[in-house]
Parts: sequence; structure tokens; C-alpha cells
Amino acid sequence: MESIFSKHILKFLLISLIISSYTFSTSAVRSVRSAPPKTSTDFIRRSCRATTYPRLCYNSLSIHASKIQTSPQLLAGTALNVTLSSAKTTSTMLLNLSLSHGLKPREAAAMKDCVEELSESVDELRDSIGEMNKFNKGRNYNFKIMINDIQTWVSAALTDENTCSDGFLGHTMNGKLKAVVRSQIVNVAQLTSNALALINKYALIHG
Ligand SMILES: *[C@@H]1O[C@H](CO)[C@@H](O)[C@H](O)[C@H]1NC(C)=O
Ligand SMILES: *[C@@H]1O[C@H](CO)[C@@H](O)[C@H](O)[C@H]1NC(C)=O
Repeated sequence: MESIFSKHILKFLLISLIISSYTFSTSAVRSVRSAPPKTSTDFIRRSCRATTYPRLCYNSLSIHASKIQTSPQLLAGTALNVTLSSAKTTSTMLLNLSLSHGLKPREAAAMKDCVEELSESVDELRDSIGEMNKFNKGRNYNFKIMINDIQTWVSAALTDENTCSDGFLGHTMNGKLKAVVRSQIVNVAQLTSNALALINKYALIHG
């Protein structure tokens, strides 16, 4: 009971920390004020500069340039969708691995924790996408409250992914399995971090 309680407090503190460190990013403020971009790929490249993993950001989003155009809302929405899709694939992969034979009990336990954390992160990303889609429907919404919820859920998703990948840092796993699983989760976490930065940028422009 006590450990579950403190785990939740820790998660909440981490989320607050993540949100505050992203919200006051000065590079996001700077790029809002520069001249308008000419093409969609130009827009995506510039927007991705405000993220922590700009190359991954550009590579994962430029293939959707025709849909994104130069809309910060569509950019953030697409980033969330790309992240969800990657989180779902990774979640299935982990579930497959966790069911495979030949895992030591400690490996199976770490894998099971990770599957749970990733599934929470998938739910949180789904909730954010659902909320994001409401921006197009009707005028009866409070943007600040909704974008705040989205930021909180995406931060929570990132925390869950990091908790999962931290579980693989120890000596629990055999080397090869650990490397495969970690690289997948790290990729999801980097996509999530980028999506959060783009959401924060959108919030800043809109607000
Ligand atoms: C993201 O996915 C949802 C659900 O599939 C879809 O309705 C929405 O249009 C997508 N958003 C973008 C920006 O592509
Ligand atoms: C998980 O296993 C199923 C059934 O064996 C397979 O069809 C699927 O491609 C696997 N998915 C991943 C992401 O490894």
C-alpha cells in the first residue's frame, strides 16, 4: 500500500517537473516570432528545432507533411498519433516477449512491469488524442483547461515509459534482450518527448 502511494507521489512530482521544464523553453518562444515558413517541410523542420530530438522529429513527421501543412495543431496531433502507433507496436512486442519461454523469473517480472507501464502510457496517449480532436468540434470548450489535461497525460505517458526503460537498466536482463527492448522503449519515449514539446509550442501560439 505504502509503496504504491509513494510511487504515485513520485510520478506526480516527475510530471510537474517535466511540464515546468518544457513550458518555459525559450527556444519555443523564439521560433514563434520568426518569419512564416514557406513550405510544410520547412515548417516541420523549424518546429522540430524546439524539440529535444529534432532529427527523429523531422524524420517521423515529414512523411505526413501534406496532411500537416503549416498548422501547429495538426503537427502536434500528428506527433501524438505517430507516438501512439509506436507505443502500441512496442507494447505488443513486449507482450510477445513476456510470453516467450526461456525468460528467467526476474526477467519475466521486469517485462511484466514494463508491459503494464506501457499499456498505461498507451491509454494516456489515447486520452490526449481524444481531447486534441475536440478542438475541431464546436466552440464550447476551455482551451487552457483542455491543453493542460493533454500536457498532463502526455507527461504521464513519458514518465511511464521512462519507468519501464529504467527497469531494464539493472542487471535483471540478459544483454541482448535488454538492448532490444530498451532501444524500442527509448524510441517511444523520445517520440513522446517531442510530441510534448510540439504540444507546448501549440499551446503557446494559441494562448
Ligand atoms: C489522429 O488520429 C485520430 C484517430 O485515429 C484521427 O481522428 C485524427 O484525425 C488524427 N490526427 C491527425 C492530426 O492526423
Ligand atoms: C506478436 O506476436 C504475434 C503472434 O505471434 C505476431 O503476429 C505479431 O506480429 C507480433 N507482434 C510484434 C510487434 O512483435
